[in-house]
Amino acid sequence: MHSLPSRILLSCFLMSFLAYTIKQFTPRISARFIARVSYEPVASRAMHIQSIPMWEGTGNNYAYLVTDDKSKESVIIDPANPPEVLPVLKEKTDSGAIKLSKIINTHHHHDHAGGNTEILKHYKLPIVGGKDCSQVTTTPSHKSQFNIGESIKVTALHTPCHTQDSICFYFEDGSERAVFTGDTLFIGGCGRFFEGNATEMHKALNEVLASLPDDTKVYPGHEYTKGNVRFAKKVLDNEAIRKLDEFSQANKETQGKFTIGDEKQHNVFMRVSDPNIQQLVGQNEPVEVMKSLREMKDRS
Ligand SMILES: *[C@@H]1O[C@H](CO)[C@@H](O)[C@H](O)[C@H]1NC(C)=O
Ligand SMILES: [Zn+2]
Repeated sequence: MHSLPSRILLSCFLMSFLAYTIKQFTPRISARFIARVSYEPVASRAMHIQSIPMWEGTGNNYAYLVTDDKSKESVIIDPANPPEVLPVLKEKTDSGAIKLSKIINTHHHHDHAGGNTEILKHYKLPIVGGKDCSQVTTTPSHKSQFNIGESIKVTALHTPCHTQDSICFYFEDGSERAVFTGDTLFIGGCGRFFEGNATEMHKALNEVLASLPDDTKVYPGHEYTKGNVRFAKKVLDNEAIRKLDEFSQANKETQGKFTIGDEKQHNVFMRVSDPNIQQLVGQNEPVEVMKSLREMKDRS
């Protein structure tokens, strides 16, 4: 039997020997490995997105909790129904899993910004959002940026039309890209033009959002995909729309499952230059096509 100190001494010796041996062999293998490995970045998941469904079966809204995994700094996007959001936040802040730093609102409508007052009773947080959002502290200018923790960079993108204060928030963590689009862009659809016109929605979808990298995942404010596909199928028949139809029949939730690149294929409001759609609506100016599509959808 060895005494405890001698066992520690022995393991120290063994570990140094092992380290020495590894070091001896490393230079020979490393050149080969580094050359190969460096092409594939280490899968780092710096940005964690949790969807919180609200008013399921009626509004079918989503709040989103986004966390920088390293620092645990987190933001809550559109926490409109506190009874459904607060329990999630409480559990995570109590356990130390997250450190909430902001409320973010995509626009002023009650089913997006209407929970702010109640959330503030439990968490003292600044509110970043459009100018008409309840209790807003900061309205970021178009294309201005801020960080969440060490690795998430957020860019505010003004997309006035559904409301004049609509802002989409584009999140990047180096390897992952996501955009939170509120009621401007839905999977396979877009929001109603309550405070804007077709020129503005065309710009929002087909200039501002379309210019994001194609692999950017889309996180909208509502689960409206089934209804959007039903309309899209009346307007256009393509492979992407058939795929979206199939996916939405098989999956209750579609947020984060499609990208800006996918939207350019299956979202008819992002295909205003498609000759088949132009022929159907009898217009060839993109803004006029946008206007016609929205009117058709509103009537459908
Ligand atoms: C659409 O709204 C913009 C911004 O308010 C305005 O400048 C433009 O004239 C409007 N266009 C039409 C066709 O009403
Ligand atoms: Zn809205």
